[in-house]
Amino acid sequence: MEKGKIFVALDVNTKEEALEIVSDLKGLRACFKIGKQLFTSVGPELVKEVVAMGEDVFLDLKYHDIPNTVAMAGVAAASLGVKVFNVHAGGGRKMMEAVRTELNKFDDPPMVLAVTVLTSMGEDDLRETGVDDTPADQVKRLAILAKESGMDGVVASPLEIELIRQACGENFKILTPGIRPASSSADDQKRIATPASALKAGADYLVIGRPITNAPDRRKAFIDILEEIK
Ligand code: C5P
Repeated sequence: MEKGKIFVALDVNTKEEALEIVSDLKGLRACFKIGKQLFTSVGPELVKEVVAMGEDVFLDLKYHDIPNTVAMAGVAAASLGVKVFNVHAGGGRKMMEAVRTELNKFDDPPMVLAVTVLTSMGEDDLRETGVDDTPADQVKRLAILAKESGMDGVVASPLEIELIRQACGENFKILTPGIRPASSSADDQKRIATPASALKAGADYLVIGRPITNAPDRRKAFIDILEEIK
């Protein structure tokens, strides 16, 4: 998948709203992220429908379970035809290796990204879970583990890009949410970057939700972001 791709977060509750966003952006080579909210509301049929429309889908369900369960969920995701899905690196080496082993049986397997430390967690939150390292050290440790375990890349905040690039090299993919075009509101995001600065810092792919989905003219909002990146 080409560097610079934008995944538009379909954070809505209904199939109708999701399909409206997809059709508003038709032909602009946007990709779409389907996460827990929409998936739990409407299920895999919608994923199949968006894939059947020829769109690239990132299934953002952050699997974290025993190796066999996550590997089989990965097979199910691959069978839906998604281009990207993700797991929690905290599930460990055996879990991620099991996913890789199963995906290797596909001719054109989806990309698998690992979530390291949720960006909502600070040092105190980590300590309560028994991790005494700083979030940055834990992100680095889990990114290296994900790479060693056969993951294609990680989901990371704009502030973590450089650290992960250094630790995991040029070919390891980095997908970054928390993106806000220069002109838009931060909403509830705190550590944000503009699309251009995230790409410059080394991100491969961007996730952008509300600045596009809540815009009065979604096509224009998306095209403006492409312009800003150029
Ligand atoms: O609307 P907004 O651009 O903030 O949406 C960002 C999307 O990326 C949401 O679906 C959110 O859940 C997801 N995300 C995030 N920060 C992370 C991981 C995922 O904002 N660290």
